[in-house]
Amino acid sequence: MYQVNDNYQKLPGSYLFSNIAKKVQAYTAANPDKNVIRLGIGDVTQPLAPAIIEAMHRAVDEMASAETFHGYAPDLGYEFLRKAIAENDYAARGCDIAADEIFVSDGAKSDSANIQELFSVNNKIAVCDPVYPVYVDSNVMAGRTGTYDPATEMWSNVIYMPCTRENDFVPEFPKETPDIIYLCLPNNPTGTTITKARLQEWVDYANRSGALIIYDGAYEAYISEEDVAHSIYECQGAKTCAIELKSFSKNAGFTGVRLGYAVVPKELKCGEISLRDMWARRHGTKFNGAPYIIQRAGEAVYSNEGKAQLKQQVAYYMRNASTIKEGLKDAGYEVYGGVNAPYIWLKTPENMSSWDFFDFLLEKANVVGTPGSGFGPSGEGYFRLTAFGSYENTVAALERIKAL
Ligand SMILES: Cc1ncc(COP(=O)(O)O)c(C=O)c1O
Repeated sequence: MYQVNDNYQKLPGSYLFSNIAKKVQAYTAANPDKNVIRLGIGDVTQPLAPAIIEAMHRAVDEMASAETFHGYAPDLGYEFLRKAIAENDYAARGCDIAADEIFVSDGAKSDSANIQELFSVNNKIAVCDPVYPVYVDSNVMAGRTGTYDPATEMWSNVIYMPCTRENDFVPEFPKETPDIIYLCLPNNPTGTTITKARLQEWVDYANRSGALIIYDGAYEAYISEEDVAHSIYECQGAKTCAIELKSFSKNAGFTGVRLGYAVVPKELKCGEISLRDMWARRHGTKFNGAPYIIQRAGEAVYSNEGKAQLKQQVAYYMRNASTIKEGLKDAGYEVYGGVNAPYIWLKTPENMSSWDFFDFLLEKANVVGTPGSGFGPSGEGYFRLTAFGSYENTVAALERIKAL
């Protein structure tokens, strides 16, 4: 008789956002007259930029005739997109990343969940706490995390790097040396990040200790401060210790379109074994490429019109971020983030638990946010609001919160 992968049975509870959806659904069913404003999930709301839509239309038309039709995409992505990424995201920033070190995918969620397949089940991972839950959960499924303690909400074989107000919500070198370090910078959910000088210290630490960094730069487009790196490869030596993951979701609104990429440099080797070649093998076997139409849309992100339009889109969301941050400050809240990321991280008032504050905000202000505890034990007592709503809704939500 067949057996299931027992590791799945170890995953605690149901997924954070389905719990939120259930609570919101129950509330709206009981209060159909209330206008609930959602600043919870990290999904964008603005339409795709015109340059992207035009590129998609052109690509759709190409699919309509035999001469220009495209079937399976190349495993690693079309050359036109990989070159555009290499030139714009790397060469333009002084980083030497070649097109054949870039692997186009259907998004950073898949990449961040799949990348652990390259590593031994005996490796020990380190994660920021709180952080995007996919890193830990994908390692749970692979059987790398040990046992779960419901009391502490921690796994026995995971190194947690608490990001708290005491360390400005940024990770510190753990006491125990990890094999694999997940860094999500700017961080989801805290919206905080580190300077390039500090990132260089992480790169040096990884090279010194033989650890690998998986660097998730999904929010890179929101960086506004000069001394923050846009890619880990801006740091010296990163090509021998880091894989970088990028998404088109937040910089270009591709959450429903799906596109991302991973960079695995040729220099990245475990002994004699090339991780780039392993990832190429994995892509070749398990992935049949992102759709042609979508890769053309991705290429348009790097056109002059695309860049100008997306700059405006990011500015739109960042205006929301400062509206939320300033509004909360005026209302007396302790707030973080919102400068290099579209997330605002607030301390719940009067030591309320994250979920109690969720209920309070839903019932009293009809505003939905995300309980910080859903992102890791150190998120307890905190709450995330996102800047991805419309400006009008953001302003209205803040008026309601201020009136509480
Ligand atoms: C840190 C981080 N990485 C990756 C993703 C997912 O990106 P994608 O839409 O490209 O799968 C998210 C989405 O919220 C995220 O917060």
